[in-house]
Amino acid sequence: MKVLVIGSGGREHAIAYALHKSQKVDEIHAIPGNPGIAQIGTCHPGNVEDLDGILKFVEDNAIDFTVIGPEVPLCMGLADLLESHGHKVFGPTKQAATLEGSKAFSKDFMKRHHIPTAAYQEVHSYDEAVAALSSFAYPVVVKADGLAAGKGVVICEDEDMAKKTLKDMMIDGALAGAGSTVVLEEFLTGFECSLLCFTDGETIVPMVSAKDHKQIYDGNKGPNTGGMGTVSPNPFLPEGMDEVFQKDILEPFMAGLKADHMDYRGVVFIGLMIENQKAKVLEFNVRFGDPETQSILLRLDSDLFDIMYAVSTKTLKDVEIKWKDEHAACLVLASVGYPGSYPKGMVITGLDQVADDIVVFHAGTAVNDNGDIVTNGGRVLNICALGQSLEETRDKVYQAAQVIDFQGKYYRKDIGLN
Ligand code: AMP
Ligand code: GLY
Repeated sequence: MKVLVIGSGGREHAIAYALHKSQKVDEIHAIPGNPGIAQIGTCHPGNVEDLDGILKFVEDNAIDFTVIGPEVPLCMGLADLLESHGHKVFGPTKQAATLEGSKAFSKDFMKRHHIPTAAYQEVHSYDEAVAALSSFAYPVVVKADGLAAGKGVVICEDEDMAKKTLKDMMIDGALAGAGSTVVLEEFLTGFECSLLCFTDGETIVPMVSAKDHKQIYDGNKGPNTGGMGTVSPNPFLPEGMDEVFQKDILEPFMAGLKADHMDYRGVVFIGLMIENQKAKVLEFNVRFGDPETQSILLRLDSDLFDIMYAVSTKTLKDVEIKWKDEHAACLVLASVGYPGSYPKGMVITGLDQVADDIVVFHAGTAVNDNGDIVTNGGRVLNICALGQSLEETRDKVYQAAQVIDFQGKYYRKDIGLN
C-alpha cells in the first residue's frame, strides 16, 4: 500500500512512524512532511489547504490511502473531496469536522444530545455579548466560534477583561472571521484529560488516556501553547472512569452522530474536565492531538494501518486494538520565545547520540543549505520513551533532553507531575 500523510508536525511524524511498522505499508509519502518523516518516507512540497493539489497528487501517484493530520483541511472538506473521487481516507467529513470548526455548532450538538458540558450562551455581536455577561460568574470563558490555532479561548478574570477580549474578537477582528460569533461559557474546575477515540460512525473505541501540559511554564503557568508534553496513561485519572466515559460521553456522542446523520470516520479527540468522578466535555477535536498522539501511539500494540483501514471502511468492530501496559512520555523541546515569536535556523546537535530506546519526532525542523537539521518552529522536537513507570519514563526523556541541543532550547521540567 502507498500511504499519504497530510501535515508536517510531530503528530504526523508519529503517525508515519507507526504506519511504517505495518507489513501492509510499502511506501509512506507526506505533504509537506518534515525532515523526521523524510527518514522513513518521501516528503513532497505542498500546502495542506490546497485540496485540489492534494487530489491531483493522490491520482498522479496512485496513492492507496490518505491520512489527514490537521483540522484545517478536514474542516475544508478534504476527506469529502478525496472520497468523492473514489479514494480511501482516514478523517471525518466536512460536516462532522464542524464539531471542531465551530464551537457554537459543537455546544449545540452537546446540548441536543445530552452530553455533559459547561453552561454557555452563543452571541453574535459585541452588545449581545456584553448583555449576556451578567448571567455568568467570573472567571468567564470567552471562545471564538471558528478555528483560531489555539488562540481562540480566553479565560477572563473580571468584567473589564471580558469586555476587552470581546472587543478584540468581535469588533477589532483580532481573529478575523473566527471571532464574529462567540461562545460565553461557565468556567469549570477540575483536571483535564485527553480522550482520543477511533470511530467509524458505528463503533467507537477509546485509546489509552493521556495528559497534555498546555501552558508554557512549569506549574501550569503562563500562556497556553499547542502542548508542551504529554504522558500516557493520565496519572490523575481515578479508577472507574472508563465506565463513566462510556456511559456519559461516548454513548450519547454516538447516538448524536447517528441522529444527525454525520459520517464520522477518523479520530475524535474529546477534551474533558474531570471533577468528583464526573466528566464534562470542554471540546471536540476531529483529529489526533498533538502532542498526545506521540505518547499514545508509542503504546499501540496493534497495526495502525489495519485500524485506520477498518475505520475508513466501517469495519472497526472487527478489529482488536491492543495497548502496551507501559507508561509513555513525550517532552516538547521548544524555541525560546514560543508561543510568542522565536528565532529559527538554529543548528540542532545530539540527535544521533540519544539512548536507543528514545524516539525523537520532528515537529518544527528544517534542513539548511549545509545539510544540518535546524530549528524551524516554536515546537521543535518531541522526545518520547516508554517505561515501566512514570518515573522511569520521565528520567529517560529528561536525560535525552540534555543530550540534544540547540540555541534557545526550552522545555518544561514537570511533564507528568503537574
Ligand atoms: P478548548 O479549545 O475549548 O479546549 O479550550 C482550550 C483550553 O481552555 C482547555 O484545554 C482548557 O484548559 C481551557 N478551557 C476551555 N473551556 C473551559 C471551561 N469551560 N472551563 C475551564 N477551562 C476551560
Ligand atoms: N494538544 C492539544 C491539541 O492537539 O489540540
